[in-house]
Amino acid sequence: MSAANQHLAAVLPSKGSSLSVTYRPTPKPGPTDILIEVKSIALNPIDVGMRDIGFAIASYPAIPGSDVAGTVISIGSSVAADAPQPGTRVAGFAPAFAMKGDPDYGGFQTRVLVPEANVTPLPEGVSFNEAAMLPMAVYTTWAGWYQLGIDRATAYDPSEKKGILVWGGSSSIGSSAVQLAKLMGFVVYATASEKHHEYVKSLGATRVFDYKSKDVSESIVKAAKADGVEIQLGYDAIGEVQPCLNVLEAAKGSGVAKLATSKPIQPDTPTMDGVEVSFISIPADTKVRTEFFHQAFNVWLKEKLETKEFVPSPRARVVSGGLEGLNEALDELKKGVSATKLVLEL
Ligand SMILES: NC(=O)c1ccc[n+]([C@@H]2O[C@H](COP(=O)([O-])OP(=O)(O)OC[C@H]3O[C@@H](n4cnc5c(N)ncnc54)[C@H](OP(=O)(O)O)[C@@H]3O)[C@@H](O)[C@H]2O)c1
Repeated sequence: MSAANQHLAAVLPSKGSSLSVTYRPTPKPGPTDILIEVKSIALNPIDVGMRDIGFAIASYPAIPGSDVAGTVISIGSSVAADAPQPGTRVAGFAPAFAMKGDPDYGGFQTRVLVPEANVTPLPEGVSFNEAAMLPMAVYTTWAGWYQLGIDRATAYDPSEKKGILVWGGSSSIGSSAVQLAKLMGFVVYATASEKHHEYVKSLGATRVFDYKSKDVSESIVKAAKADGVEIQLGYDAIGEVQPCLNVLEAAKGSGVAKLATSKPIQPDTPTMDGVEVSFISIPADTKVRTEFFHQAFNVWLKEKLETKEFVPSPRARVVSGGLEGLNEALDELKKGVSATKLVLEL
């Protein structure tokens, strides 16, 4: 095999093993795929789950990794004429978990296949490290909006006082949700550690509350009432369903409230009358998914990066070592990060 048709990858040989860096054959793009030369990879909790417990992996060897940025090498035969062409700098949402660990589609390698619907061209001012932070956060925000029934075209005037709760506003997916909510004109009530309050406000939150305070839910309800705002929608980035329910129940006014949570619903997930709780996800139907990703990545994110109305968040911290550094970086993520996205340069 020549160097042109093989590349380096961090492969999981078996369930629960460490990632091992090795050469593998470079795949050819399928009709609607884009082959990306990866320059930066951002890390997500699901990567840890895939490595450590085989989460969403059907067979081995497998390659995890969802968030990549790099340059287009080649495109499939049916890729749209206005899609990113070879040489274009892009961010890509590699479908590692949707494809159940299929090595061709995992982001932890120097060349990866990404469906064209999951790819966003980058304006000049956005670096690869910044761009890699975007795809999972953007996907999860729009998937939450899907569950909450928020129309894409929503554009409230703040005087309409439409409230939304974002629990975990300094997290990767929460900071993205704060930004989208603000762009749509919601009055955003968020939680974060006190040291991140100004940062979360800078992204668009109207008020930020310390989730470590024992009366945090009461404080949010009190503030919303003082603001004359009802909160009928909640985005729980952390899996803290109970305090979100407490806020929504007391601040929703009449009618039913909706909460989208980032952790799968379990038999012991708290419930409350008058609040519908759902897991942040979109239907498995291929047509629905392709349209969803197209709107999120080819249309919305492309435009918002150009206008600079949406920025990569929270703050990137570059970890060293390239693909060889992945195991250590995932161990670090597992210990927990604070308003930080770990990014690896290749
Ligand atoms: N459903 C899906 O499709 C989907 C997709 C992506 C992620 N997820 C899940 O969503 C969760 C968040 O992922 P992520 O990548 O955004 O995480 P992350 O950025 O690694 O989360 C770290 C942040 O969580 C905040 N935090 C921790 N405990 C908190 C609490 N009790 N209340 C409020 N904030 C708290 C911390 O805030 P401070 O630093 O301010 O203390 C920190 O900034 C993970 O469980 C992940 O697996 C689900």
